[in-house]
Amino acid sequence: MDFAPTPEHEQIREAAYRFGQSEILPGLRERDRAGESDPATLEKMGASGFLGVSVPEKFGGMGADYISLGIVCEEMERADTSARVVLSVHNGLHCMTLMQWGTPEQQERWLPDLAAGRRFGGFGLTEPGAGSDAINLKTTARKDGDHYVLNGSKTWISLADYAHQFLVVTRLAETSAKAPFAAFIVDRTTPGFSSRPLHGKLGVRAGNTGEIFFEDMRVPADCMLGEEGDGFKVAMSALDHGRYTVASGAVGIIQACLDACIPYANDREVGGEPIGKKQLVQQMIASMVRGREVGRLLYFKVGWMKNQGLRHTKECSMAKWVNCEAAFDAANKAVEIHGAYGFSDEFPVERYFRNSRGAVIYEGTHEIHTLLQAEYELGYRSDKPVAKTLPGWPFR
Ligand code: CAA
Repeated sequence: MDFAPTPEHEQIREAAYRFGQSEILPGLRERDRAGESDPATLEKMGASGFLGVSVPEKFGGMGADYISLGIVCEEMERADTSARVVLSVHNGLHCMTLMQWGTPEQQERWLPDLAAGRRFGGFGLTEPGAGSDAINLKTTARKDGDHYVLNGSKTWISLADYAHQFLVVTRLAETSAKAPFAAFIVDRTTPGFSSRPLHGKLGVRAGNTGEIFFEDMRVPADCMLGEEGDGFKVAMSALDHGRYTVASGAVGIIQACLDACIPYANDREVGGEPIGKKQLVQQMIASMVRGREVGRLLYFKVGWMKNQGLRHTKECSMAKWVNCEAAFDAANKAVEIHGAYGFSDEFPVERYFRNSRGAVIYEGTHEIHTLLQAEYELGYRSDKPVAKTLPGWPFR
């Protein structure tokens, strides 16, 4: 077991931190207040190589290991959750699922443009009536010659207005497959596709979220990932990648809380001494430090398992569950330490409080991960080998 970060890990952490400071933070408060996302941020992330972090070099990606992707997520979310969400959706849910399930021809078709940031990828699983209960999704795909015709809608879709293509999970209208699901990569320029932004979110206000709709949308059969019947497995394995980015990003929120609280606690005085000298404040700081350290160990372990090509659904669920709750707890404490200033966007901690709440819900709620961990421990659930595995690292 080697806990030392490699020079590559340190370099990429520094690069992602600098990107967050110079490209994400300027103007963020105004965008967050206005609920406006900035597509230029996406383009800059692409130009800097961050949209291809763990995509093999043969497809034009950075070829970095999966721990590096976690580190980038951590540093991006240290700046703002909206930036990490881009990585979750594009790098995690979209590109890595394509690396796991795509044929060599499909990978060659899509990955180079995605890794270079010439195209952005999205993900559509959740529907108005199917969130945690994903298996009850209603969007249909009906085979018609060498195409499938899609009808339905997906909601809470990050990058709904910006992604050029989406990985969409559907229910097959007619199939002999045991599990009636299929996943497709769909292009937003296909007739029958439309999108609509969602407004009024509690957090991640500088990020684009919306709904996407399919109305008799004809998708070529060669855009299917896996085969008929694989769709739900494709969706669940995508979540192994998305949850990893959420778990690592959550550590960035905890670090951001410390970044804000340490100078504040050293500066703000009560009774003639800095509040950092008060034990009740120290207790909150220590709790944040605990969340950060445990969080890193949990996501490094999952990143390591990805590097080895091992299935990691159980470990990833644990990392996502623990880290997102620790991040929300840290943000709540950061508001507390800032007192009334924590209730205003003059300081960033109220944004961390709002942003961290969402991740306790998306990519598997607190309740879903609680049930999963209990089922694993009780012997009701186990992780079987999957037909297609994410390539381990180093990439061949
Ligand atoms: N990789 C590959 N295959 C997997 C898998 C994985 N990670 N997980 C499950 N499978 C396979 C299983 O082996 C099983 O295959 P067999 O039928 O051959 O045995 C099949 O998929 C069905 O799996 P389960 O039996 O585990 O299915 P389930 O119905 O028990 O799943 C659940 C229940 C785990 C709770 C699942 O419904 C779930 O995770 N729900 C939460 C959904 C979720 O997280 N949604 C978030 C959407 S994305 C998002 O949030 C982004 C956003 O921005 C909103």
